[in-house]
Amino acid sequence: MSVTPDASSAAADLARIVALTAELNRHSYNYHVKDAPTIPDAEYDRLFAELQALEAAHPAAVASDSPTLRVGGAPIPEFRQVTHTVPMLSLNNAFSSEDVDNFDRRVREGLGVDEVSYTAELKYDGLAISLRYENGLFVQAATRGDGSTGEDVTVNIRTVRNIPLRLHGQAHQLPAVLEVRGEVLMLKAEFAALNARQREAGLREFVNPRNAAAGSLRQLDSRITASRKLRFYSYGIGALEGMPMPDAHSALLDWFETLGLPVSDERARVAGAAGLLDYFLKVGQRRSRLPYEIDGLVYKVDRLEDQRALGFVARAPRFAMAHKFPAEEALTQVRDIGVQVGRTGAITPVARLAPVFVGGVTVENATLHNEGEVRRKDIRIGDTVIVRRAGDVIPEVVSFVPERRPADAREFVMPTLCPVCGSAIVRLEDEAIARCSGGWTHCGAQKKGGLMHFVSRRAIDVEGLGDQLIEQLVDKGLIDTAADLYALDQHKLAGLDRMAARSAQNVIDALEKSKDTTLARFIYALGIRNVGESTAKALAQHFGNLDALLHAAAFAGGLQLLEVDDVGPVVARSITEFLTDPVNLALVGRLRTALRWAEGEHVMTRPAGALAGKTLVLTGTLPTLSRDAAAALIEAAGGKVSGSVSKKTAWVVAGAEAGSKLAKAETLGLAILDEAGLLALLGADQHR
Ligand code: IVH
Repeated sequence: MSVTPDASSAAADLARIVALTAELNRHSYNYHVKDAPTIPDAEYDRLFAELQALEAAHPAAVASDSPTLRVGGAPIPEFRQVTHTVPMLSLNNAFSSEDVDNFDRRVREGLGVDEVSYTAELKYDGLAISLRYENGLFVQAATRGDGSTGEDVTVNIRTVRNIPLRLHGQAHQLPAVLEVRGEVLMLKAEFAALNARQREAGLREFVNPRNAAAGSLRQLDSRITASRKLRFYSYGIGALEGMPMPDAHSALLDWFETLGLPVSDERARVAGAAGLLDYFLKVGQRRSRLPYEIDGLVYKVDRLEDQRALGFVARAPRFAMAHKFPAEEALTQVRDIGVQVGRTGAITPVARLAPVFVGGVTVENATLHNEGEVRRKDIRIGDTVIVRRAGDVIPEVVSFVPERRPADAREFVMPTLCPVCGSAIVRLEDEAIARCSGGWTHCGAQKKGGLMHFVSRRAIDVEGLGDQLIEQLVDKGLIDTAADLYALDQHKLAGLDRMAARSAQNVIDALEKSKDTTLARFIYALGIRNVGESTAKALAQHFGNLDALLHAAAFAGGLQLLEVDDVGPVVARSITEFLTDPVNLALVGRLRTALRWAEGEHVMTRPAGALAGKTLVLTGTLPTLSRDAAAALIEAAGGKVSGSVSKKTAWVVAGAEAGSKLAKAETLGLAILDEAGLLALLGADQHR
């Protein structure tokens, strides 16, 4: 870029600055708000550099919405105070469906109506911010503070990439003044990455994404804020001048969206308490898949006129309510530390806890993952600890409270013998995990774990054959191996606890149905260590039939296995060890006569197709294709689906609410597709 000083080219430079500012802001919006990039990153960087050079030559021409201001600037001595024109209030909380019923009843009575429409939205677990726009331009951001006075964090907020520095729309469509209220938060993926960086630098880690977001925003050096990648979501309005207020909260959020403001798609207009509770359950199920933390939902009477009629009590509105999820963290005491034996013999230390209600259930055991983790976290018997149970994730011990450590707290000692079968516990030098050396033939825990894996949905898929039934079947000596499952009959099942004739028949039917399977499922179901679903698929695809696989495992130390994508020396060794063991081979032999799958040729060459040799990663929810359907299409075109993003990933296919994988792909500068893009890729194949 050449920048020359004469007048005519100065005018051209200024015009170019205006054009580049607008263009870069448009691309940035498509990228950060719509999650739909419109130009390659490299091109964005080139235009950005061009704008920076022009701005350096014409400092007076830097627009207040210039994307170059988003990188932060020199530290400021302190935050100025800002008085909110409209106070920032708080919400009353509901913890049960009864609380929600009462809220709805008070609203109906207050309005004198039978049914009320509400907007239900996420309760973001971040910090409240008010953004002020004047004639469409972002001019100020303030924290909530005490509700009437907050701190001026304008410079820091400018670094939040999904906040528009200029609202979308023609001048006459924009309000003279608009104060947008919302929440600044840190994505879970960014939080994990930040803590990893902190750890490497020997700095203190952040406790949770909310603290990290708060710490990142309250930085006098805005360059630090810029490096922390915060996000903003809108949920309300403060001052509005020069335009009529929409008539409903749902309409307000829709309007915000047209202005280019980020609003989560996860919102709904529902009728009555029943509608609210229904939506609460739905979001609860999706919660762990959201890319950011939420601590509940917020319900608001939809019609603003009704909101005004209901008014406020003290500092909280009568027209709105926060419905909180049960707390995910709680304090309790470690009574003992025992161990659990997994399917592959892995020994997991487990904290036995004084029962505590957390994440909606009573927890008595929490995993400590492995011996190294117990040492690193320094958890001892007698400690008071923070236990966390998030969503369906198994409860874990986060940390202990030093002030409450009793003098007689005892350290955990890893047992030398398996508590289930008495075999020696061994730990290989290069592994974090200690294992029972008994193997599944000796160790009941491994046997049961292996059987549970065998019948699981993504393996052989025997519907209705649950963990407790497996426990009973093994304990009563009715089955010893997976092959024995297919020798079960009504008579044998009928003797078990809580097994009516009808349920026994259901199990038999499900077993019968499970006999039709695929080679990939069969390989996965065997539970070979280090062979997950995608490796099982790769093996099935590569070898085509079971004999070719057995042959490869048995000869030349499994050298041929290394030809399979995904299979390295460690995986190859696991496969060879498993498939050359005579007991395992006998089991495989019995199972192959019980089960059926289509056998194919041993394919040595890579499959041809539009995606031959390419690895794709799926993340988020696609608009029409299920995950399995998308994976099947990709595999049919010769591609591979991997669960993790790396430099070798050819494309990342991202849908709604994509999380850490998308973030990683962005950092690596990988190509990102939406569903339409994926279909276009596949379409290209069909037309060849
Ligand atoms: S509305 C008058 N909506 O929760 C009502 N608040 O106790 C003002 N919050 O610190 C708040 N998500 O930052 C509202 N969708 C949402 C929210 C939300 C999170 C926070 C808010 C405030 C607290 C209210």
